[in-house]
Amino acid sequence: MAQFKSLLALSFLAVAVNAAPAADCTGTISSMDDVSDAVKCTTVVINSFTVPAGETFNLELASGSTVTMNGDVSFGNKTWEGPLFQVSGSNINFNGNGHTFNGGGPFYWDGQGGNGGVTKPAPMMKIKISGTFTNVKVLNSPARVYSVSNPAALTISKLTIDNSLGDQPNSKSDGKAAGHNTDGFDCSTTNLVIEDSTIMNQDDCLAINKGSNITFQRNTCSGGHGISVGSISSDVTVSDIQILNNNIVNNDQALRIKTKSDATDSTVSGITYSGNTATGMRQFGVLIDQSYPDTLGTPGNGVKLSDVNFVGAMNTISVNSGAQRAAVNCGVGSCTGTWDWSALQITGGSAGEITNFSGIKNFSQ
Ligand SMILES: *[C@@H]1O[C@H](CO)[C@@H](O)[C@H](O)[C@H]1NC(C)=O
Ligand SMILES: *[C@@H]1O[C@H](CO)[C@@H](O)[C@H](O)[C@H]1NC(C)=O
Ligand SMILES: *[C@@H]1O[C@H](CO)[C@@H](O)[C@H](O)[C@H]1NC(C)=O
Repeated sequence: MAQFKSLLALSFLAVAVNAAPAADCTGTISSMDDVSDAVKCTTVVINSFTVPAGETFNLELASGSTVTMNGDVSFGNKTWEGPLFQVSGSNINFNGNGHTFNGGGPFYWDGQGGNGGVTKPAPMMKIKISGTFTNVKVLNSPARVYSVSNPAALTISKLTIDNSLGDQPNSKSDGKAAGHNTDGFDCSTTNLVIEDSTIMNQDDCLAINKGSNITFQRNTCSGGHGISVGSISSDVTVSDIQILNNNIVNNDQALRIKTKSDATDSTVSGITYSGNTATGMRQFGVLIDQSYPDTLGTPGNGVKLSDVNFVGAMNTISVNSGAQRAAVNCGVGSCTGTWDWSALQITGGSAGEITNFSGIKNFSQ
C-alpha cells in the first residue's frame, strides 16, 4: 500500500503510471501484494510478514530510495533455488533497524549444503545496490547467505549472520554439523566495503572470487573457514583487497588465498592484511594454496599471485596444537615478487611449509 504524501506526487503518478520516475511518497510493504506499488515511492517501509514459499522478495528500487525495516521477514519453506531476498537500485540507503530475515535453515539443513541432499535456496540474499546496506540480521540461512554485486560503490555495515544453530548435527546430517556451505559473503565485484559485522557460520566468512577495491574491516568471524580470497577460477583478476582489523574465532584457518589447480590466465595481486587477530584456528593460521580444491596437493601455476603483504598493525594469530602456522603452496613460477610479512605473528601448533617460492621477507616460523 502506498500512502502518497502530496497531491502533486499523486497526480504526477496518475499521468505516468508505468515509466514513472519515483515519487516522493512512502510505500509500505506488509505482504508481497504491496511490493510493486511500494517501489514506485522513494521511501519504502517493510513491516513484519511472511513471504510465501517459492517466491523471491524482490525489491527493484528507484534510484535514491531509502528503505527502512519495521519488523522481521520470514520465508515459507520449500526446496528450490531461491534467492529468498533480492534488492537492486542505485544510491540506496537500506536500514534494517536490527530486524531479521529468517531463512528457516533447520528445514533444509542436512549437513550437505550445496553438495547434495535437498535443493536449498542459495544465495539467500542477493544485494545489487550501490549506497549503504546496514543493520540487518540474517538468521539460519539454508546455505550461502549474501551474494554481493553492487553496480557502484557500496558500504555494508553492522550486519549479523547467525547460523550458529547449524553447528549442531541434526537427524539428517549423519553426526556432522547440520549447516554446510553457509558462506557469509560471496563477492565478485568492485568498490565494496564490508565492516563492523558479525558472521557465525560453517564456511567462508568472506569469499572474494574476483574484483578489486574491496575492504573487509572490523568484522568478527566465528566458527567457519576464515577470510578467503578465492576460490579463483580461470580468466579472473583480483586486486586491491584490504583485510583489516578483523577478529577470527574458532575457524579452520584465519586468512586464506585459494586458487584452483586447473585455473588458467588469472591474476591475484595487492592483498593487504593488517591488524587482524585470530584465536583457536583448527588447521592453519595462514594458508595460501594453489592446489584447490585439494589442500596442499599438487599446485597449478595458471594463477599469478603477487603482492601479498602483512603490514601496518600486527596480525596476531594463534593456532591449536595439531594446526600449522603458515603454509604456502605455489605452482612453479606463479608466486612472484617480494612479499612483506613483517606484521604477522603466529603462535601455537607447528610451522607450515613454504614451497616453490622464496619471495616472503621479514617472516620466520
Ligand atoms: C521453516 O522451517 C523452520 C525450521 O523448521 C521453522 O522454524 C520456520 O518457522 C518455518 N517457516 C515458516 C514460515 O513456516
Ligand atoms: C573504492 O571503493 C570505495 C567504497 O566502495 C569508494 O568509495 C572509492 O571511491 C573506491 N576507490 C576507487 C579508486 O574507485
Ligand atoms: C612445485 O610445484 C610443482 C607443480 O607445479 C610440484 O610438482 C612440486 O612438488 C612443487 N615443489 C615443491 C618443492 O613442493
